Amino acid sequence: MKKSKRREGFSSGLAAFFATLGSAVGLGNIWKFPYVVGDNGGAAFLLVYLICIVFIGLPIMISEFYVGRKTRKNVMGAVQELSSKKGWSIIGIIGILSAYFVMFFYSGVAGWVYSYVFKILKGDFNRATAESVQQQFTNTTLGPTVPVIWQIIVIAVVSIILIAGVKNGIERITKTLMPILLILILICDIRALMLPGVKESFTFLFKADFTQLTSKGILLAMGLAFFKLSLGMGTMVTYGSYFTKKDNMFGTAAKVAISDTIVSLLVGIAVFSAVFSFNMVPSTGPGLLFMTIPLVFTKIPFGKVLLFAFFVLASIAATTAFISMFEVLVAYYTEQKGMSRKKAVILNAIVIAAIGVFSTLSVSEGAVFEQIKIFGMGIFDLFDYISSNILLPLGGLGTGLLVGYVVPKEDIKKELSNNGKLKVEKIVDIYYFILKYVTPIFLIIIFLSSLGVLQKVIKLIS
Ligand code: TRP
Repeated sequence: MKKSKRREGFSSGLAAFFATLGSAVGLGNIWKFPYVVGDNGGAAFLLVYLICIVFIGLPIMISEFYVGRKTRKNVMGAVQELSSKKGWSIIGIIGILSAYFVMFFYSGVAGWVYSYVFKILKGDFNRATAESVQQQFTNTTLGPTVPVIWQIIVIAVVSIILIAGVKNGIERITKTLMPILLILILICDIRALMLPGVKESFTFLFKADFTQLTSKGILLAMGLAFFKLSLGMGTMVTYGSYFTKKDNMFGTAAKVAISDTIVSLLVGIAVFSAVFSFNMVPSTGPGLLFMTIPLVFTKIPFGKVLLFAFFVLASIAATTAFISMFEVLVAYYTEQKGMSRKKAVILNAIVIAAIGVFSTLSVSEGAVFEQIKIFGMGIFDLFDYISSNILLPLGGLGTGLLVGYVVPKEDIKKELSNNGKLKVEKIVDIYYFILKYVTPIFLIIIFLSSLGVLQKVIKLIS
């Protein structure tokens, strides 16, 4: 095989951490987390989510890092290198497919977020009320032209950063922007803590009521955990392949999972404080973020500046996360198909925009494609549901099984300890045990129960 150009990578452990965090923190925290928690009753759902992060998310994240750094390849190339059996390529196929599916709707939501930055500057949210913010959300998403234009702008911005490359594009952007983002979220929370609905929001988020929990809720919690930590698609394989040989992968995984969860909770507190202060309902759906945050900042000094800062922050988070999905495709097409980086970016950008438009114009009531339903779901919901709740968990399960049952344990030990330089023997043992026995069993039980299979079996036995 020819060894062509030297492969790019991140220049330090810190750069790797910020890039990975930039991938994890995104619309998942700011837009999806609050509304899915709101739709599913709050604290009990949150608890299941946290359990999924620890027993499914973390072990799979470490496995994806392992697969990437060991092979230094894109997701397809990597799994093919680890096993000569053709069947494992399914992990690569699921990865590529889910990358497209997620980007089809993610680009649309990112477009709404970008457009809010400009709406705020224009003064659309001066004197906002609960009714006026709802109207604004409908105006933003109805289309047919405005949301599409913003969606294309997002795709173009991400494409430009990607063409610049791993070090000059991804690394530079995430290292400067992630710290700013964390500071802005904190400011947002300080304001939210002064709202009258704070107490109720804490009760909603932290006082578990298990009667609210359904088996579908449990599947959604698992799907959210995959989505949040960017797992099952090959993002963490691809980023892992850019890590230096000195990076501590356990440390990076733990730091990313903890920071990501904290960011989600901080946003959740702000959103639900607004929900309960302005007599809204938590189960408002995908518009929740857009209908609450503008209210948090009305009637206070510097409100407009803070609101502006919040949506700038959300745009940043959406952009860095989007980059990490798109990079899965770019790495695949350049390494497996021999395309140039520029060509891979441009061709895929066109595909994402062309199909993504259908998803974006299916959200609002009265939108052009709103009437189209497949399996009872609109186009937007379908892309979201299939990717988060089916493809990502399956891709993650595949990677977990590959690392847990095919790769020799000695190899894993060697790679995760950086050839014995890190003293992580105990942690490797715990990780390996959970990966082999706990993670797949949890995953399979959640799948079966969401399909109703488990309930039938229990009925039969009792
Ligand atoms: N984790 C990101 C978010 O929460 C989205 C994301 C980026 C993602 N890369 C991914 C989700 C890979 C699934 C798989 O916004």
